[in-house]
Amino acid sequence: MITETLRVSAEAPQADVMARAGELIRAGRLVAFPTETVYGLGANALDAQAVARIFEAKGRPANNPLIVHVTSINAARSLVTDWPTAAAELAQRFWPGPLTLVLPKRSNIPDIVTAGLGTVGLRVPANPIAGALIEAAGVPIAAPSANRSTRLSPTRAEHVQRDLDGGIDMILDGGPTAGGLESTVLDLTTTPPRLLRPGLVPPHALEAVVGPINRSAHSEEGAAMPAPGMLARHYAPRTPLECVECEAAGRVESLSRQGMRLGWLAFGNELSLIPPGVTVLVMPSEPVQYAARLYAALHELDAVGVDRIVVSLPPDTETWLAIRDRLRRAMHV
Ligand code: TXA
Ligand code: MG
Repeated sequence: MITETLRVSAEAPQADVMARAGELIRAGRLVAFPTETVYGLGANALDAQAVARIFEAKGRPANNPLIVHVTSINAARSLVTDWPTAAAELAQRFWPGPLTLVLPKRSNIPDIVTAGLGTVGLRVPANPIAGALIEAAGVPIAAPSANRSTRLSPTRAEHVQRDLDGGIDMILDGGPTAGGLESTVLDLTTTPPRLLRPGLVPPHALEAVVGPINRSAHSEEGAAMPAPGMLARHYAPRTPLECVECEAAGRVESLSRQGMRLGWLAFGNELSLIPPGVTVLVMPSEPVQYAARLYAALHELDAVGVDRIVVSLPPDTETWLAIRDRLRRAMHV
């Protein structure tokens, strides 16, 4: 299969390109597209065969459900059997945006989309290219992140190409994604609502709308992960990666003295000691900018070809929750 990559303007997505991409989706094909979080790999959510192609292209285990993307609250409601007040309030506040709501699914969604679960994850993405694709296709779009299973999520079209070239039909290149980290996944079928995956919308912002939520699965102790497919090792670069809680400079120096070529995601003012042969990327000291940079930085270090990546962890506070979650899952040991 030849994968066609087309540049698209996020400000004004080209109508002819979007029409072709929409046709591909309707024909059961796979189109990668930018969202405000990461690139997604889209297929017609109402076509079980098309969705099966997503699992095949990604090498994704069949027990990991997909998020369905729509462009409006009404479209979301047409896919679920219940629309509780919490859903209405959260959708009103955060859609379009990086929040996925898990609700009881209607039977029009094929079982393969939800991995056989009775619930479906729904969101309205904020990137205009994503919205234009869903509109052009005229159907809801099931889309996981556009990477091989367990690998790093893509924040640029080149990352999608590196992982999936030849396995999918089209890549819409809308430039780097703004958010850089996946959506927050919140289960609304339980009381209180339960945080299944921390993401760009922090828990306190959800709580400001719906009151207390259950975030126990995401304590730093790392309890069992309730989102199916939230494998402990996930979102990982190819290069072995280790996280250091503080004072990583010592660790970098000692590994480097053992002759290892290192990549270092540094944080804050650690840069007095840089041994030769260490590729240092200084990460932003603020979570929104850090998230936007994280996957691209790890992709870069993979491309440089170092023996190991050392990450100086950001602080153990709630604004860093999603970032620390992904870094923990990126560790090889
Ligand atoms: O930002 C994002 O969410 C991106 C963009 C493309 O929208 N998508 C994404 O999809 O990250 P994926 O497939 O890589 O991750 C989806 C997560 C998985 O952890 C999955 O287990 C969870 O959402 N999920 C989806 N549907 C679910 C359901 N019905 N119940 C529980 N968890 C669900
Ligand atoms: Mg993913």
